[in-house]
Amino acid sequence: MSTLNLIHNTPLIFLDKISATLPGKIYAKAEYLQPGGSVKDRAAYQIILDAYENGSLKKGQTVVEMTSGNMGAGLALVCRQFGNPFVAVMPQGNSPERRRILNAFGAEIVLTQQVDGSPGMVTGADIAHAVDIAKDIAHNRNAYYADQFNNTSCIKVHFDHTGPEIFRELPNADVFIASVGSGGTFIGTSKYLKSVNQGINCIAVEPENAAILKTGKVDNPKHIIQGTGYGLIPPHWEQTLADDFITVSDEEVRDMKMRLSSDQGLYVGYSAAANVIAAQKYLQDREKVLNIVTILCDSGYKYSD
Ligand SMILES: Cc1ncc(COP(=O)(O)O)c(C=O)c1O
Repeated sequence: MSTLNLIHNTPLIFLDKISATLPGKIYAKAEYLQPGGSVKDRAAYQIILDAYENGSLKKGQTVVEMTSGNMGAGLALVCRQFGNPFVAVMPQGNSPERRRILNAFGAEIVLTQQVDGSPGMVTGADIAHAVDIAKDIAHNRNAYYADQFNNTSCIKVHFDHTGPEIFRELPNADVFIASVGSGGTFIGTSKYLKSVNQGINCIAVEPENAAILKTGKVDNPKHIIQGTGYGLIPPHWEQTLADDFITVSDEEVRDMKMRLSSDQGLYVGYSAAANVIAAQKYLQDREKVLNIVTILCDSGYKYSD
């Protein structure tokens, strides 16, 4: 078995403590157990496999990506296995833990200035600036630019793996809930689940003041749910896949992050907590008992608090 075999097939955990007082059951995919510590390992692996397959990446060629950290960790470890150097370009507002992890996985890191974000809060404008710099670096070094926001491998991998994994374990899921960064997880998984279970409701989670998918506008681009809620509509977004939207506040997310570790024994990151608080909100006041499945996107060890 190689390191790459550790990607995919994460356990589906029943959140019994969180579900205890709710009219339903919340199940969550333990994506934080992937070798790079997040759901993005799946997309990173697929990007590299597809790029080799279609001839856009050669042995030894450098790979460049703008990354808030998790895609970087995934690409760094996958690229190392394939023998490709990797350059991660990231806004400096992302947590220092993420940089440390990228260093550990052997990535070269280029930090970019923030436009309107602040430490711990990365905005869409910060990302756009980092993307411009990443593209320049890729051009100058004749490198392969992974382009996670536009790369359809990031959707395909969730259609081919995450969706089927969920369906195998929980064929009777009533609801799928996920936060949205590049949108790969939500789009690919929802598409698959809807193709095998027409009755399923797919719900997108957004920060309450940057709910662009729900409201079309961003009141405040700053929030703590790193890796998601960039205040932009992902290029491959399909509004019809989302049956509804749930917004969450920073305070709710912080509280749920604490509860997940102290009550449930799962030390996960902010977007994972956002997904679970959204699942809890969905279940509140429902009469019918429902099975919800969501994603524990990354590990709490990736953050400084
Ligand atoms: C912590 C975290 N949660 C959720 C996501 C969202 O995943 P996707 O890009 O598939 O929408 C990301 C993406 O980078 C992330 O880093």
